[in-house]
Amino acid sequence: MRGRFVTFEGIEGAGKSTQLAEAARFLAARGIECEVTREPGGTPVAETLRRLLLEPQPEALDATAELLLVFTARAVHVANRIRPALERGAWVLCDRFTDATEAYQGAGRGLPAGQIRALESIAQHGLRPDLTLLFDLPVERALARAAARSTCSDRFESEERAFHERVRQGYLAILAREPGRLRRIDALPGPREVSAQVEDALEAAVADWRNGSADGR
Ligand code: TMP
Repeated sequence: MRGRFVTFEGIEGAGKSTQLAEAARFLAARGIECEVTREPGGTPVAETLRRLLLEPQPEALDATAELLLVFTARAVHVANRIRPALERGAWVLCDRFTDATEAYQGAGRGLPAGQIRALESIAQHGLRPDLTLLFDLPVERALARAAARSTCSDRFESEERAFHERVRQGYLAILAREPGRLRRIDALPGPREVSAQVEDALEAAVADWRNGSADGR
């Protein structure tokens, strides 16, 4: 049976990466094979593109160049890692995916949604997450956390606060549009309370998956 594709999304400092590692342990304890990965990145070529995107560059990388780079990395990642893992029955837990493109390059940088949709269909051939956990909290709190954990900022972390506010609103718009796929996780409380929300969502997804296998889905 095909595995489930679960993505973790949110603004910088939302704490999703820590929670992703916990989620993998939670699923492994239930006998589920997990492939843990991230975007941009996840394969050697895609990680090279990640460095181009995140590190300061000697020339302008405009929003269109960013968009093409994230989708190039995504096409490589989907073909070489995500699809094969799902097909062998593993669950794929991915730190960011196409919702991040809609939030950052769409809402944040102002690129038209139609461009993102067009590239999504080219790069992903219909692959979309089964479940997306959106770690949400006010921008001010998230940026304070991000600043406390890192000394140097990448090209996105160094953006002004208004950019991060647009990104957050972009994510909330996806949540409003697709409430069945996205689940909002309140990222404001401490790690234990946040984990409990994540485990709740995963428990339901595991039950649904196991029922599907009993029905031969
Ligand atoms: P990370 O810091 O969560 O690993 O994410 C890397 C950065 O890449 C983050 O600032 C968001 C950005 N990004 C985009 O701008 N577009 C995308 O499609 C993805 C996946 C990430």
